[in-house]
Amino acid sequence: MEAETKCLQLSNGVRMPVLGIGTSHLGGYSDDAVVHALKNCGVRHIDTARLYKCEHLVGESVRKSGVNRADLFITSKVWPSQYGYQETKDAFRDSLSQVGVEYFDLYLLHWPASPEGTDTKQLISESWKALEEFYSQGLCKAIGVSNFEISDLKNLEESWKIVPHVIQLEFHIFCYPEKLIEYCRGLGMQIVAHSPMAKGEALTQPKVMELANKYKRSSSQILNRWVTQHGIATIPKSTKPHRVEKNCKIFDFELSAEDMSCLDAIHESDSHSSINITSQAVFNRT
Ligand SMILES: NC(=O)c1ccc[n+]([C@@H]2O[C@H](COP(=O)([O-])OP(=O)(O)OC[C@H]3O[C@@H](n4cnc5c(N)ncnc54)[C@H](OP(=O)(O)O)[C@@H]3O)[C@@H](O)[C@H]2O)c1
Repeated sequence: MEAETKCLQLSNGVRMPVLGIGTSHLGGYSDDAVVHALKNCGVRHIDTARLYKCEHLVGESVRKSGVNRADLFITSKVWPSQYGYQETKDAFRDSLSQVGVEYFDLYLLHWPASPEGTDTKQLISESWKALEEFYSQGLCKAIGVSNFEISDLKNLEESWKIVPHVIQLEFHIFCYPEKLIEYCRGLGMQIVAHSPMAKGEALTQPKVMELANKYKRSSSQILNRWVTQHGIATIPKSTKPHRVEKNCKIFDFELSAEDMSCLDAIHESDSHSSINITSQAVFNRT
């Protein structure tokens, strides 16, 4: 049950478990995997979103696990199609009711985009105002953004009263946005890595497999350990309980500084097909 004890402290004092579980729509939702993570693996951080259309299932898994709401850190996100002050308020209320909780621990603007023909900067600023209100009312314990670049943060900075507590971004051995991370840390934001195993594609990278052999660990453990050793939270997803269990066992070993550097350097040389896609492309797909 070590996973639940490792936390990152947000700028407002809230503690965010460094290891969570993802629930994205890709590959489907697995109640077995989430219940196992909560009940047997000590996971206390769950990442979901309206886009994944599984918030109601997350709620069911939480209740089935028997873990107290107060001991959990639950994140959800609003998708750009519901940006705008009132739209975001409606989306937030509906997400709370879908999950069946009275508050979220973290609520995020999912993507820095907006429907074609709308003013993205204006809509994001209105949505952020709604998030600031949820936060002030205690309806979420922290607020943040996801997939924002430095330019998106600078735009939002013109209107924010509360600096985002968290940024969730794509971070794995093929995608290491150092400048963005430095910028966010300069603002006091904590970082959550999404797709920490590059949607499974990093598991067979030769250096990762070599280190798995060296440390007598699985590739998934090497990848998630690397993320957390950078002081970044990780939310790996698996639909299979035995893999979830494996992915959680990352706190009883340490990668050497030299091996960390080798993994840090992979994105510079590995021309792996990046899964980092532009915001508008993603928006248009949904
Ligand atoms: N904010 C955003 O825009 C955003 C974007 C993407 C993701 N996310 C969040 O981040 C979470 C994680 O990212 P992700 O789901 O994209 O990718 P990921 O966690 O990097 O990888 C998931 C893939 O790896 C496989 N896998 C997991 N553990 C494994 C193991 N031990 N051995 C072999 N294969 C394994 C899974 O397959 P099986 O299910 O078959 O095990 C799945 O195909 C998401 O679920 C979501 O909550 C957020």
